[in-house]
Amino acid sequence: MDFSQIRNQFDNCVVANYSRFPLCVARGEGSRIWDTDGKEYLDLFPGWGVAGLGHCHPAVAEAIARQSRKLIHVANNYYNEEQGEFGEILSTRSGGRQAFFCNSGAEANEAAIKMVRLARQPRHRIVTMRHSFHGRTMGAIAATGQPEYQKGFTPVVPGFDYAEVNNPASVEAVVNADTCAIMLEPVQGESGVVAASREFLAFLRRLCDELGMLLVFDEVQTAPCRLGEWFGYRYFGVEPDVITTAKAIAGGMPMAVLLAKPEVAAALKPGTHASTFGGHSLGCAAGIAAFKAMEEERVMENVRELGGWLDQRLGSLIGPEYGIKNLRRVGFMIGIELEHPGIALVNDCREHGLLVNCTHTTIIRMLPAFNIKKDDLERGIGILSDRLKRDEWRRG
Ligand SMILES: Cc1ncc(COP(=O)(O)O)c(C=O)c1O
Repeated sequence: MDFSQIRNQFDNCVVANYSRFPLCVARGEGSRIWDTDGKEYLDLFPGWGVAGLGHCHPAVAEAIARQSRKLIHVANNYYNEEQGEFGEILSTRSGGRQAFFCNSGAEANEAAIKMVRLARQPRHRIVTMRHSFHGRTMGAIAATGQPEYQKGFTPVVPGFDYAEVNNPASVEAVVNADTCAIMLEPVQGESGVVAASREFLAFLRRLCDELGMLLVFDEVQTAPCRLGEWFGYRYFGVEPDVITTAKAIAGGMPMAVLLAKPEVAAALKPGTHASTFGGHSLGCAAGIAAFKAMEEERVMENVRELGGWLDQRLGSLIGPEYGIKNLRRVGFMIGIELEHPGIALVNDCREHGLLVNCTHTTIIRMLPAFNIKKDDLERGIGILSDRLKRDEWRRG
C-alpha cells in the first residue's frame, strides 16, 4: 500500500483528532525510525517520551514475545507473578510506595484525584498549577491549568484551584480548609520544560505537612530515568505522598502507575477504583525487562553525563545567528526557545531526517531515549543547527 492509500484509510476510518505529519512509520530501532519508503530518521522525540529505551529494545521485545505465549492478561481478582514482580520493582525504587496499575497518564492522574479525595474526605479541593498538563480525561482537564484544554467540555469537574509554579504566595492564596491536596508536575513538559525550584517544592511539602494535605507529583514525563534518577522527586530531593507515571515505564507498552505511601494507598479499598487492563501480564513483563535494561545499561549515568554536554553544545547556539532565545534543560527534557514560531523548523528538520517536537508555538522540545549515544545526539544537533542557520523555515 502506498502512502496516499494509507492516508485515505485514516481519512475515511480514523477520527481526525490528531494533526499528523505526512510520515508513515514502518519500523523503529533504538533512536531511529524508517518510513514506508525506507527513509531513515533520527528520532529525538521518540513516542513523545514513551520510547525511553529507544524503539523496540531487544530485551523488551523478547520479554513481550515470551510472555505472550504464557499469559497476556488476567483479571485483577486473581494474582499473577508479573504484576507482583513489577510492583516490587517500582515500590523498591520509590521508597516503599504501593502501586496501582492502569493504562495511561491521564488514568493514573484520575486515580490520584480519587485517592487524595478519599484519603482526606470530606476535604475535596485540589490545588494544581497554571500552564500544567495532566491529560485529556474529564478529571485531568479540570486539573490542567490551561483554559484551552477545557474549552467546549464545560462543565468541568469542580474542586480545582490554580496557582503559579514557583510562587508560594499564589498557593497560599487558594489553599483553604477544604483543600485535600496539591498536585503538580516537577517539570512542566507540555508547557516547554518549565521546572519547579527545589525551594518551591520544599515549601509545598512543608505546607502540606502543616495543613494535613497530600502532595502529588505528576511524573508522567519525569520518571523513570528522564531526570537522571529513577524518579524526578529524587532529583529535587522532595518526597511527595503520591506519584503518577506512565510513558516510559514499560518499554513502549501502554502502562501507567500510581505509587502512593501505604497510609494514603489504604484509602483505595476494594470497590472504590479499578481498571480492567491495569497491570496486565504483557505490560508488566515488558516493564520488568525495561527496568532491568535501564539498570544494566546505566542509562541514568548517560542522562547525567550527556545532559552536561548538551548545556554546552546547545548553549553555544543561543543568540541571533541561530534564532535561539533561551535553553531550558532538566535531564533529558530539553526545551529550546526560539525567536520565531517553530513548527516550520520541525517540518524542515523532518525533511532532513530529524524528528523533534514544537510546543507552545516557539519551543523546540526533545525527549531523547535515555540510552542514546553521544554521536547520535551530536548528529541531531548538527542537523538542527544547520537548519536553524538557514532562514527558509522562519518565513514558513
Ligand atoms: C505530565 C503529564 N501528565 C499526564 C499526561 C497524560 O498522559 P496520557 O496521554 O498517557 O494520558 C501527559 C502526557 O503527555 C503528561 O506529560
